[in-house]
Order: sequence, then structure tokens, then C-alpha cells
Amino acid sequence: MEDQPVGTTPTPLLELEGLTTIFPLKRGRVQAVTGLTLRLERGQIMGLVGESGSGKSMTMLSILGLVPYPGQIVAGEVRFKGRNLVRASNAELREIRGKDIAMIFQDPMTTLNPIFPIGEQIRESLRIHGLLNGAGPRLPWPFDHARRRAERERVLWLLDEVGIPTPEEASHRYPHEYSGGMQQRALIAIALSCEPQILLADELTTALDVTVQAQIMDLLKRINRDRGTAIILVTHDLGLAAEFCQEIAVMYAGRIVERGPTDPLIEDPKHPYTQGLLDCIPRIAATRRRIQPIPGTVPDLIDLPPGCAFTPRCPHAHDGCTGHAIPLYKVGPGRLARCVLYEH
Ligand SMILES: Nc1ncnc2c1ncn2[C@@H]1O[C@H](COP(=O)(O)OP(=O)(O)OP(=O)(O)O)[C@@H](O)[C@H]1O
Ligand SMILES: [Mg+2]
Repeated sequence: MEDQPVGTTPTPLLELEGLTTIFPLKRGRVQAVTGLTLRLERGQIMGLVGESGSGKSMTMLSILGLVPYPGQIVAGEVRFKGRNLVRASNAELREIRGKDIAMIFQDPMTTLNPIFPIGEQIRESLRIHGLLNGAGPRLPWPFDHARRRAERERVLWLLDEVGIPTPEEASHRYPHEYSGGMQQRALIAIALSCEPQILLADELTTALDVTVQAQIMDLLKRINRDRGTAIILVTHDLGLAAEFCQEIAVMYAGRIVERGPTDPLIEDPKHPYTQGLLDCIPRIAATRRRIQPIPGTVPDLIDLPPGCAFTPRCPHAHDGCTGHAIPLYKVGPGRLARCVLYEH
């Protein structure tokens, strides 16, 4: 940090700058993520919010170099502690995945293997990253025995840590024997197994009822508090993000349309899309106007024209909203909104 010029902030934990991920298809170029710039600080919980298809998961997968074929990152950088992961080799990325940055995928069954007991799967994750002494080539007994015992203890500790009752018995059970909430806890245990500095949680609680959702969110909060793990909470639920995140980034059609600290963003949303999202949330809309869905649907991301993609659904739209790129304007301390309403 000594070589930082005076007055600059220390290197952030994770920085996305101009990240652009596309899918070149026969029928056109799908712009899943366009020029996305974000900064996650150590220990921070950030919400990435937007409707289905807005590019949230592709942003997360881009961070880890896991964008499915034929998708590709065509511009921008993903800097983890200053190191650009877009240019990292596969071996380097494998090392970082799980160990420094862990992702909990949107569909639990993409991570959980139905044919192995949960305990076995957590142990596998520990082994991949060689976090226990002796991990690597098979060792002769009694060293192997000692390693197995250490692994076993760590697995049980992790299951207990994420609130799975009777860890010993639970470790022998298969994913289908777990309830939805318990599956999510098991996923969190796998993600935590290597003590990551960043946890990317993609729609972690979407399929759960509100009580279980609240328990899982409490667990994430505790992890954040006790270990200082930074979290990006990906959700379509702005209310959930408002409750748990210090900062929120709202995405629409692959772009960030508004971002800033949670309280002012919720109290006084600047982008018409954020305003529309808030009016859809019963517990927040009640204190504002009446509950109103946003009319229209999200646009097709193929060959998007320049300008604001929200224009067809926006109550404030006018001729100046299309035909040219719209930058993020400063709309308050630490706040940005991509809307011509705030053109200076
Ligand atoms: N395999 C693919 N091939 C082509 N386009 C894709 C593919 N996967 C995603 N996309 C495009 O990328 C866009 C962003 O997808 P993404 O999965 O990031 O959305 P999301 O915000 O996570 O949505 P959801 O809330 O439904 O999970 C989609 O609208 C889709 O057009
Ligand atoms: Mg998604």
C-alpha cells in the first residue's frame, strides 16, 4: 500500500470495471452484461438487484471466469485485490474459485451431487483446495488416518456452523433427504469450507418460504459479521436487499442503472426503474404510494440500441432518452443514476 499516491483509497477487495459479457449467437449479439462498474470493499454486503434476465448471474459468472459457452467477456476488468482475473489462466482461476471467492449458484442441484452424501461433498471441497494438512497424494497409514479424522471433524464443524442439526447423522444423508432450507445451508457450508474472502450468493433464498429465508439471511449476516466475509447478494427482491445490504446496485438489461448506499437509495430512489421496483414491494410501497407493477416487460438483449433500455416502460421517457449512450450521473453522496433526468 506504500506505493499508493497520497489521498487515494486502498485497493478494493473486488473491482469490476467496464465489464462486458456477450453471447454471439446466429440471430445476433446478446449483451448480457454491458460496461458494468462496481466496487466491493472488505466485509461489505452488496446487493445486486434486477428483474429476471437483467444479467445478474452472468455478472457473477464473469467474475469467476465461468461464463457458459459461447458467452465471453469482451471488455473490461475484474480485479481481485488489484489483480485482473479476466487475464488470469485457468489454473489461477481454479485456485481462486472456492478458496478466495466462493459462489453459491442459483440452482442448488448444480452444486449438490445427488449421488453422494452431503458430508462427502463438503470433504471433497476441502480436498480440492488442499486446506487440510496432508491433502494431496494419498499418504500411508497412519498419516492418512489422521488426515481423514481431521477432515471428518472439519465437516461436522461446518455443518454445525451453518445450523444443520445433528451434524454426524446429517453428514451421511443425501441431498434429496434435505429440505430446501437445509440444502441452502449445505451449500453455504461448502462455500465456507475454504474460508473465502468473498461469497457470491445468487438467489440463495428465492425458492424458500419467508421464515426459512429469514433464517438463511441471518446465517449470512452472522458469517459476514464473524468472519468479515464480503458478500454480493444477488436477488430480484429489492426489499430483501434493502434489509441486508449496505449498498445496492440495480441492474436493468445488462447495465447498472442506479447504485449507492442503501438507505438514501430506498428513501429517495432516483432512477425511474428503481422507483418502479420499490412500488412493487408491499412493505415499502405502503409507505410510499400504492402497490403497482411496472408495465411492460424486460427487453430482448439482442443488438440493443444505444440509449436507455427502460424507455418503453418509463413514465418520464422522451426523445432524449434514446439514440445515444447515457452515462451514470452523480445524484448524491456515493450515488449514481443512469438517467437523463439528472443530466447537468
Ligand atoms: N447460455 C446463454 N445463451 C445465450 N444467452 C444467454 C445465455 N445465458 C444467459 N443469456 C442471456 O443473458 C441474459 C442475462 O442472463 P442472467 O442469467 O445473467 O440473468 P439474471 O439476471 O440472472 O436472471 P434471473 O433472475 O432469471 O436469474 C439473459 O437475458 C439472456 O438473454
Ligand atoms: Mg440469475
